[in-house]
Amino acid sequence: MTEPHLADLLTTPDRDAFWAEIGSAPPVRRGRYFDRSPVWLVTGYDEALAVLKDPGSFSNDINTRKDSVDVLATAGLPEDVAPYMSETLGAYDPPDHARLRRLVSRAFTVRRVESLRPRIQTMIDELVDDFPDEPFDVVERFAHPLPVRVICELLGVPGEDTERWRQWSSGLTAPDPGAMADSARGLVTYMSELIERKRAAGDDGLLSALIEVRDSDGDRLTDRELISLSLTLLLAGHETTVSVLSEGLLLLLNRPEEQERLRGDLNAVPAAVEEMLRVAGPAEIAPMRYAKHDVELGGVTIPEGDPVQIVYTTANRDPRRFDAADSTVLDRQDNPHLAFGNGIHYCLGASLARTEADLAFRTLLTRFDALGLATTGDEIRWQPGTARRLAALPVRATRAPARHD
Ligand code: HEM
Repeated sequence: MTEPHLADLLTTPDRDAFWAEIGSAPPVRRGRYFDRSPVWLVTGYDEALAVLKDPGSFSNDINTRKDSVDVLATAGLPEDVAPYMSETLGAYDPPDHARLRRLVSRAFTVRRVESLRPRIQTMIDELVDDFPDEPFDVVERFAHPLPVRVICELLGVPGEDTERWRQWSSGLTAPDPGAMADSARGLVTYMSELIERKRAAGDDGLLSALIEVRDSDGDRLTDRELISLSLTLLLAGHETTVSVLSEGLLLLLNRPEEQERLRGDLNAVPAAVEEMLRVAGPAEIAPMRYAKHDVELGGVTIPEGDPVQIVYTTANRDPRRFDAADSTVLDRQDNPHLAFGNGIHYCLGASLARTEADLAFRTLLTRFDALGLATTGDEIRWQPGTARRLAALPVRATRAPARHD
């Protein structure tokens, strides 16, 4: 059996076929990472969950790795911005992770997300009002601008700066290390100034709440942690949400009868969003874990210090866990997918992403009688990269007549 190379993901024309091949093998197997170094690929659902739920055996801290590599140097990040990119929630283990997560969770509450709903709806309406009658790229006009506006609104970044954030976000995920470093530097400088301004005059945004937040023992977030967290929210929350909005829409464009069903029953949209996340979740692979001691998993022994790569895409299509695992069933009821992870690192923005997707699809279905592809399916391309994201999605949208209730 040949070892799969994740680097092939950067050039494959068909990500689904790539993952289907990897998923057909044993649930834990040897493979190669993007830099061609050896990793254990955890592709089965139960095995992925076992790793996520056991931070005592699997660490997110790079220093646990036996052949410790300088990841930051490999990524080409300059020293002045590297710590802001590496010292993030996703790279921490308990107890540091628990401390940071507890502080952030005090400010980033479900209530805060719920209170954003009317603003998110207004942003969606503004973008949809501007849709042209002729075919257009819905990624450019809708899926890409919406999540960055929402993150800026959440943090309390002034509206006029949103376009700069959008450019920085694109730079942060660009394959060019120079563009990445410039964007990270731009954001770090901007955030330092914004924190000063919020300190002087607070508001009801998340950043002001994070500045104020204190633990029961008086512990609070440092400026560096605040900047790093803001960067993390943008990095973790922008492109992922762009992806679920556009990939989810593509699933609907290819299923006119499902569009009709959902138009007739908008309460069925949340279940459809869950299935979109299962079959086309943007986080195809997890941040790397490292075995803290020799661990038995899926019939193999993973030696202490070895890197362990969970593959969410194959876990979410594991036929041992999901009926009709390879089919898209938009009214699936039993759907405990791992698109947002699980355990202590479970996605902090899950309820925000769900709210955005729910409001976006409800609005698109209500405002348009028909949504169709403006091109043949073959021309739809994934953006080459480590995350799943459509480069463009040309659509034709037929407006529903205005309702006078
Ligand atoms: C559809 C959109 C999204 C998807 C699919 C997604 C997916 C994920 C996944 C899989 C993880 C866990 C990674 C792991 O440990 O293996 C994660 C963590 C995280 N996500 Fe999301 N995410 C989304 C949107 C967001 C948004 C909107 C935000 C915030 C604005 C966000 C912030 C975070 C943060 C801060 C973490 C790290 C949590 C920790 O390590 O404790 N995500 N996300």
